[in-house]
Amino acid sequence: MFEGKLIKLLIAILFAVFSLSTISAHSEAAKLTSAVVVFSPNSHTKEVGKMIANSKEAPLMEIIPEQPYTADDLNYRLENCRAIVESTDPKARPEIANDLKIVQKYDVIFLGSPVWFRKPPKIILSFLDKYDLKGKKIYVFVTSGGSPVFNYVEELRTLYPQLNFVEGRRFRPDEIQENVDEWLDGLK
Ligand SMILES: Cc1cc2nc3c(=O)[nH]c(=O)nc-3n(C[C@H](O)[C@H](O)[C@H](O)COP(=O)(O)O)c2cc1C
Repeated sequence: MFEGKLIKLLIAILFAVFSLSTISAHSEAAKLTSAVVVFSPNSHTKEVGKMIANSKEAPLMEIIPEQPYTADDLNYRLENCRAIVESTDPKARPEIANDLKIVQKYDVIFLGSPVWFRKPPKIILSFLDKYDLKGKKIYVFVTSGGSPVFNYVEELRTLYPQLNFVEGRRFRPDEIQENVDEWLDGLK
């Protein structure tokens, strides 16, 4: 009689412990935190970043170059403009002015910038060199005049094989919230 009660009690305790651990595992998964990080000298990508930040209720952080990009720096019609010089130098890593180490506390990073010469601007590599994003889900988003995101993501996957670039998405420079949300809703 006593043994029977004891066994029932033990089963009840085991069940309670199991339920609690399942609940906590579920809430752990639900607690994934997101941050949006953008480099956006002409603000188009930043606008998309704001839309992502709004929908995900995530902070928006900006990569600020130590030496700001002037219109001439970005004018690729000028021979040897800064953007061309940096993009053709594999070692170029423009300095970042602000401290972004708080980004390392988040689980999911939405990383955005314009496409420059079909690739990431070199300051994106400065950012990825400087901060440890190992183990995080990184979603890349870009704006461009028409180039797709494919080469951009391939470049990052080649240079940072240890990082998890889950997928990338190209948006128009004047993108609308609805399209951004559609992308967010479909993410793994
Ligand atoms: C230096 C430079 C290189 C660019 N290279 C490309 C490119 O290869 N393909 C493309 O479609 N657009 C290219 N663009 C256009 C930008 O990707 C586009 O205007 C982008 O929306 C700008 O983003 P931002 O306003 O956030 O700086 C380039 C622009 C600049 C300034």
